[in-house]
Amino acid sequence: YLNYQVPRTRKEIFETLVKGLLRLEYRGYDSAGVAVDGPTKTTTDLNNNNSICLIKKKGKVKALEEEIYQKDRDINETLHTHFGLAHTRWATHGEPSAVNSHPQRSDKNNEFVVIHNGIITNYKELKKYLITKGYEFESETDTEVIPKLIKYLYDNRENNSITFSTLVERVIQQLEGAFSLIFKSRHYPGEAVSTRRGSPLLIGVRSEHELPTEQIPVQYNSDIHEKNSHNRTDSPNAINSNEDGRAVEYYFASDASAIIEHTNKVLYMEDDDIAVVKGGELSIHRINRQAGDDPVRAIQTLQMELQQIMKGNFEAFMQKEIFEQPESVVNTMRGRICFDTNTVILGGLKDHLKEIKRCRRLIVIGCGTSFHAAVATRQILEELTELPVMVELASDFLDRNTPVFRDDVCFFISQSGETADTLMALRYCKDRGALTMGITNTVGSSICRETDCGVHINAGPEIGVASTKAYTSQFVSLIMFGLMMSEDRLSLQKRRLEIIHGLKMLPELIKKVLSLDEKIKTIANELYQQRSLLVMGRGYNYATCLEGALKIKEITYMHSEGILAGELKHGPLALIDKDMPVIMVIMRDGCYTKCQNALQQVTARSGRPILLCSQDDSELMKNAYKTIELPQIVDCLQGILSVIPLQLMSFHLAVLRGYDVSSRFSYAQELLTC
Ligand code: F6R
Repeated sequence: YLNYQVPRTRKEIFETLVKGLLRLEYRGYDSAGVAVDGPTKTTTDLNNNNSICLIKKKGKVKALEEEIYQKDRDINETLHTHFGLAHTRWATHGEPSAVNSHPQRSDKNNEFVVIHNGIITNYKELKKYLITKGYEFESETDTEVIPKLIKYLYDNRENNSITFSTLVERVIQQLEGAFSLIFKSRHYPGEAVSTRRGSPLLIGVRSEHELPTEQIPVQYNSDIHEKNSHNRTDSPNAINSNEDGRAVEYYFASDASAIIEHTNKVLYMEDDDIAVVKGGELSIHRINRQAGDDPVRAIQTLQMELQQIMKGNFEAFMQKEIFEQPESVVNTMRGRICFDTNTVILGGLKDHLKEIKRCRRLIVIGCGTSFHAAVATRQILEELTELPVMVELASDFLDRNTPVFRDDVCFFISQSGETADTLMALRYCKDRGALTMGITNTVGSSICRETDCGVHINAGPEIGVASTKAYTSQFVSLIMFGLMMSEDRLSLQKRRLEIIHGLKMLPELIKKVLSLDEKIKTIANELYQQRSLLVMGRGYNYATCLEGALKIKEITYMHSEGILAGELKHGPLALIDKDMPVIMVIMRDGCYTKCQNALQQVTARSGRPILLCSQDDSELMKNAYKTIELPQIVDCLQGILSVIPLQLMSFHLAVLRGYDVSSRFSYAQELLTC
């Protein structure tokens, strides 16, 4: 929302928006769009002259920029209002395309346009309702219900003086899920309304002079109604451009990196805050006063550099993503598990459920970390589906010309959805008539497009070169699949309930594991000069060992091997002595006694094991050189908790060994320049 006292051209507004989008490119996206006030070129005229020019494009921000210059011949037109919206989309519902990208609109006249970060979980019900009321949908997104709903409320308003923010309040009362939203409407020219619940949103404030106050008081609708007015432009301490000819600009963003070049003064919105900019004035209010509400939103001064903002307080994207796991697993489960009824529905699979239940076997295929997610969940999938489950490395699967049949169901697990071996294995299985299913983090990727059905893991873009949060979200997705398959199996109900309970506890327990970071760093300090590190375990934690060892070799350049403890006496034991660092994962599960035997074999050879074990397992700890105690969860989910210390360990080892834990992008660039 640029200073409206100075004349601005549409070009200037576009440039500011596009620059902001470029700053967010590091987060990954598949399409982008902008909305500014504009000529009615793409709209049919209503009874007023306000119009919104909407330009959207699949692919890079650069492509959007070209589209803007191509489409808008009046780009140098001076505007009276200076408010525009822009968004990059990482698809969660519907493939990447111009029509699915944001801003989403209410209708062909662009009466209301909205940008949204997050997921609306009850969008199907809302969409159904709005369709019965005659509203037509053009995209496959969850977001589109929002502009349609606000238009519905506007069309059915009780009086003509209804404010934009009242409409927004009514909309968010109907929404379930997570969102940060910014609205623009041709009925409220030059007015911006934004709100959030569960997704981040901040407002940058830029002023040519000292800001009148460093705090904005929050108003409540009850106060506003008492004053019998919805007009907040007279609120006493709101930031105002009008007085003394002061010029204030406002930048709404999900991430400070998009706005830091304009201002380092920001205020963070809280859940259910509604921020309105009108006539150059910013005010914030809430629908209901709640206990513990902070009555002000303080303006903070960011001291961070751009790079730092992108990574938050973390040293590297990998570290940031490890710490995002309490939220990323929630996003994987959101709208799919109902903890009240203990039901699990994966929308992308439900139409194929009958066919899957009749299949000969499940074949789960992937590479690297994605393959490990298959190994980690194989046992529980066998138990819950009562089907044979094969897990396959894509490259080996192809090398062997593995027999595949029409009644096989083949899963393709891939964070990127583009891994060549996995994609080739998919085509191989398709040619043989099997039902193919994708489990990816990238909607619209080749694997997504070419499979018959699938699950989007919703972990959010993974920028760190080593996969971390995608692994735990793939893990959770496969578990949810097993739960969906076993819903009608009476004999499995008790087991299902303990797993669903475990999933509910998961975010909190992950936080507890993350709180062990300092301890893990101290252990890494002892290990970082070693040449080799063995990781040993069995049963549900065999995959943890493979995945932990992969992380260690990938980013620390140290030799590391994941060893099945049951194989110890068939060779690997020869490696054990007092100098060989060994991490052993021994949890209280079905393999506990067998793992204790392995521990004895290691200590008998003077090995000094670092134990990842259940909390308070004092008996076991007596034989350990060091221990990392983990919270207990149902056996088949333990691997999610036990892999996190190894993710953290690999990160600290890499830093201590002096390696740059780079992002996928810089890593790819390095490879290109090699
Ligand atoms: C390890 C890692 C790789 C990938 C593998 C498959 O940290 O990132 O092992 O897991 O290259 O990639 P996707 O999952 O994109 O198919």
